[in-house]
Amino acid sequence: MNRAALTLTSVTKRFGSGPCSTLALDRVTLDVVKGEFVSLIGPSGCGKTTILRIVGGLTDQTLGEVTIFGESPHQLQIRHEIGVAFQRSALEPSRTALKNVELTLEVTEPRNRDRSKAQELLVAFGLEDALHKYPHELSGGMQQRVNIAAALVHNPSVLLLDEPFGALDLLTRDMMAEWLGSVLLATPKTALFVTHSDESVFAYGQGSSRSAL
Ligand SMILES: Nc1ncnc2c1ncn2[C@@H]1O[C@H](COP(=O)(O)OP(=O)(O)O)[C@@H](O)[C@H]1O
Ligand SMILES: [Mg+2]
Repeated sequence: MNRAALTLTSVTKRFGSGPCSTLALDRVTLDVVKGEFVSLIGPSGCGKTTILRIVGGLTDQTLGEVTIFGESPHQLQIRHEIGVAFQRSALEPSRTALKNVELTLEVTEPRNRDRSKAQELLVAFGLEDALHKYPHELSGGMQQRVNIAAALVHNPSVLLLDEPFGALDLLTRDMMAEWLGSVLLATPKTALFVTHSDESVFAYGQGSSRSAL
């Protein structure tokens, strides 16, 4: 039996057509087991973001197949089953940390008026004192914790992280890597973590690193 939760089979992505087109992905195959945390490591331009965008249902592959729990990324994306956090925080500058995380719930669970999960998660992430602060009042590391809280608060099946600590200094990045490791130990997620270097990623106790590119 194939236990894979997330499967890429010979996924190819070409941007444009003709002699000036770019072959961003060339037959990438990858199986991720449910609850597994996989790091994708590779230099800038090798196609990491393109993989995440395809898995996240934000763009289509040119050839090949992607399934997540037997469905297409697009189907999961419509049901808000995919949480995404990128290098540049997607926080709304005019909303406090709490209001930013609540925004995810407004979008994903519009009929549910109970937004208490947002505060619970931020407190669990050590951000009790930051609840009512605006993004510009927070450090880079705190902003990314809020960003990841916003990606996780609706309990998606799959978590996609695209160099979420890439803009942070080395020391903060290491601390954040440890912190993320503990978050994912407490709440295992089927997760893809993209980074351009191998620093920190090996710190994740339950993680595995793959070179798929
Ligand atoms: N929308 C796009 N249009 C054209 N080329 C693109 C587009 N997005 C990415 N590419 C190209 O695809 C390749 C892989 O890009 P990307 O997935 O962003 O790499 P990485 O995230 O590993 O830095 C690069 O050569 C990039 O220039
Ligand atoms: Mg990228």
